[in-house]
Amino acid sequence: MRDNTSREASNVVKEMINKAITKKFDVKNMISISRTIRIADLGCSVGPNTFIAMQNVIAVVEKKYYSQVLPSEKLEFQMFFNDHISNDFNTLFASLPVDRQYFVAGVPGSFYELLFPSSSLQFVHSAYALHWLSKVPKKLLDKKSLAWNKGKIHYIGASDEVRNACAAQFEKDMENFLNARSKEIIAGGMMVLIMVGLPDDFQPSETSTGVTFNFLESSLMDMVNAMSH
Ligand SMILES: C[S@@+](CC[C@H](N)C(=O)[O-])C[C@H]1O[C@@H](n2cnc3c(N)ncnc32)[C@H](O)[C@@H]1O
Repeated sequence: MRDNTSREASNVVKEMINKAITKKFDVKNMISISRTIRIADLGCSVGPNTFIAMQNVIAVVEKKYYSQVLPSEKLEFQMFFNDHISNDFNTLFASLPVDRQYFVAGVPGSFYELLFPSSSLQFVHSAYALHWLSKVPKKLLDKKSLAWNKGKIHYIGASDEVRNACAAQFEKDMENFLNARSKEIIAGGMMVLIMVGLPDDFQPSETSTGVTFNFLESSLMDMVNAMSH
């Protein structure tokens, strides 16, 4: 279900990505000695959304490039698919599009740390992944803390202290993410981040994700309670 939701949302942002590349991505200058464009998708999961998104980026970059240079000066693409080490990279690799026009590498590890050599990427994409915190803030697990989350798995419906602790962790994580990318992406490169967001006057519990998490949480709680009795 989440796959389809992400795909629909990706379709919505596709136009925005296309416009950003067409307007701002200086593909001609980016190609100096090597004509290889290196692209990373961070938090790629097992596909197929990542393949669809990456194919779209390649198509727009190619279109822009060939409108500026002779078609004989061919571009090459190298795709880096990143996710946690526990991601099922076997499934990802087994389902790679057979007609793909790019080289492939898997990059295991957290995107909150350095994943690539300095100045090695021209384009970074990440969709629906940055809302995962790097860790549960300690305060949420501490029964003596005001931010104790009472064993809940998310902050929906929780106290301000819980929300603030999550927000503080998100801030730290984003800083680490941006610091790492600022080293890895070459000058003039581009990064597209697609993230879940909420207008200020919206409660997380009013969203479909909020409802899903509530169901998931109550099932997990039932299982834990059943095991401990
Ligand atoms: C909801 S899926 C999105 C998958 C795909 N990008 C899409 O649009 O369908 C989120 C992915 O982000 C990955 N992820 C979460 N935190 C991560 C981290 N710190 N480093 C790398 N991957 C992470 C998860 O393992 C998961 O595969």
